Amino acid sequence: MPLVDAFDLGPHGQNVSPSLIEDFLSQGYVICDVCDRPALDQLRREIVTAAAKAIDQPGPTDDGAFLDGIHQVLPVEKLNAVRLGLYHEINSRAWFRPTYFRLGRAMLETLVGNELAMQNRINFSIQMPGDKTSLLDLHADVFSGETPYQVVQWLPLVDVKATKSMFILPRPKSEAVIARLAEFSDGGMRALYEEIKRDLIWLDIPYGKVLIFCPNFLHGNVVNDEATTRWSLNCRFTGLFTPYDSPEKALGQFYLPITVRPTTRLGMAYRQPGGFRE
Ligand SMILES: [Fe+2]
Repeated sequence: MPLVDAFDLGPHGQNVSPSLIEDFLSQGYVICDVCDRPALDQLRREIVTAAAKAIDQPGPTDDGAFLDGIHQVLPVEKLNAVRLGLYHEINSRAWFRPTYFRLGRAMLETLVGNELAMQNRINFSIQMPGDKTSLLDLHADVFSGETPYQVVQWLPLVDVKATKSMFILPRPKSEAVIARLAEFSDGGMRALYEEIKRDLIWLDIPYGKVLIFCPNFLHGNVVNDEATTRWSLNCRFTGLFTPYDSPEKALGQFYLPITVRPTTRLGMAYRQPGGFRE
């Protein structure tokens, strides 16, 4: 085996681009094939089955078409109740978080670490065409007290692009504008949006791919002007041993350890004996 003069942080998993680290560091996000496509299809099937039942529709034959066209059979006034029902029902299934992790595992282990903590629930977003009630304006998660040591794994359940998707301001431009955020104190986020809108990347993510992004950079969405409904899931991952500054986002509550390694388990189990001298 040849000698190496640098520690290898590169990806070791399947489906992982050799430029994953470089792309993530330079842009603040990556879009990759999910690590297990049959698991994604089955996860979507479970959500579609529960959604069809919740709105008294027969189980569809085409899951993607059902989700894309949900606005044709569900009034927008009932959307949030259905979304919350699905959120609680699907998050109660034991397979949901482990399967969701599996879809991005190779990338997460390369970008974040192999001892990880995962958000205790996976969020559901459903954005019907023209719906103004499900918006997430321009923001960076760190502005509201989130840890800067995290990524968001954002998974569309249908093909998304343009206003049906979300936007991100890539790292160099985002860092530059955040450094002079005080200039936008009077105009607020609306003025900031006007300043940067030409530089936003509207993420084109076909079903079967997953977005992993650093939410320290500016991102958000607008009214969905496409003809079909957006369905996406999102969940936060952080290194098990990164700082947890915010009491409401503590390890053991908001974040739960998922891949604790044997040496960490043994270290945590060790108790220094008292009263013994060599
Ligand atoms: Fe966010």
